[in-house]
Amino acid sequence: MSKGRVLATGGTGYIGSHAVVELIKAGYEVEIIDNLYNSKAGVLGKIVELTGVGPKFYTVDMCNRAALMEVFTRGNYDAVIHFAGLKAVGESTEQPLHYYENNVGGTLNLLECMRAYGVKKIVFSSSATVYGVQESPKCEESMPTGAGITNPYGKTKFMIEEILKDATVADPSLEVSILRYFNPIGAHPSGLLGEDPNDRPNNLMPIVMKVATGEIEKLTVYGNDYSTPDGTCVRDYIHVVDLVKGHLATLERMRPGVQIYNLGTGRGVSVMEIIEAFSRVSGMQLPYEIGARRAGDLGSLYADPSLAERELGWRTELTVEDAMRDTLAYLRKEGLKLRA
Ligand code: UD1
Repeated sequence: MSKGRVLATGGTGYIGSHAVVELIKAGYEVEIIDNLYNSKAGVLGKIVELTGVGPKFYTVDMCNRAALMEVFTRGNYDAVIHFAGLKAVGESTEQPLHYYENNVGGTLNLLECMRAYGVKKIVFSSSATVYGVQESPKCEESMPTGAGITNPYGKTKFMIEEILKDATVADPSLEVSILRYFNPIGAHPSGLLGEDPNDRPNNLMPIVMKVATGEIEKLTVYGNDYSTPDGTCVRDYIHVVDLVKGHLATLERMRPGVQIYNLGTGRGVSVMEIIEAFSRVSGMQLPYEIGARRAGDLGSLYADPSLAERELGWRTELTVEDAMRDTLAYLRKEGLKLRA
């Protein structure tokens, strides 16, 4: 029996695709909308290969409210998981309006559709970026958000969180779950799904992957003079499969009002440790150089994941090494070879 009907926006993207697979495996009926801006339709075949189910797919842009309404007309959804969004920090500074229109405007359209069709549950993909600049590197959900966010991308995540809170004040029957992702890495253990940005990547792991295959000559480590154990930045890298399981845990425990959870491991890992882990697992020495600090980077940022553990019964199980192994499996399946 179906556990419920879920609409996944951005369901062919990196995190969305992994989530769709786990949702189907857990017994949900899933439908996907995506404009394929940063993903490929080929992902749908991989989902079928992994689950035996071909979810209904709509190529719809979140900015197109009429098209989105059309999807809801037929959907009869119990819940929406809202992954869709633009996420390149640098690009957001160059094209702020594009980011506000897609991320904030897209969410407003989605909320209007939900209201029109009586859909009450929404899980939103937020980011640790909403913590901005804090005194402590360890982020707790109760900390104030929004101060010191330096780019439009980060501001859209903060604004959407505020919009969801206001919408819930106006309609207390809404059930909102805001999930603040730390740094998702890794791939599906089958190697069939992974991170495959259409443009030049900005995040560490996609760049590591392109250095490993020789597409990028070497990794530039953005600064080694931070006050961290080895001087390089520390982040909380979470395996994408652990991350999406956090969505399943939250879906099972939705309740009226807004719940906010960090999805992270609670463990800080440095850029050098990422390079070492990749080198260890792959058997190749990843070429790198130490460069200047990147504007807007914080020295250290990691999750306090204890609230999700207490309330959702969820915690991460996979390691950075697991993520490296699965990333390598993904590269192999894509037919990419490590450089000699
Ligand atoms: C970044 C964004 C964050 C966003 C997240 C997901 C910034 C300041 N933050 O997080 O808002 O939610 O991506 O898109 O951009 N690094 C290198 N060399 C590289 C690339 C990265 O040394 O070529 C380092 C960075 O300095 C950082 C770490 O790797 O310490 C992780 O970087 P990244 O993957 O871009 O994630 P965040 O900066 O944590």
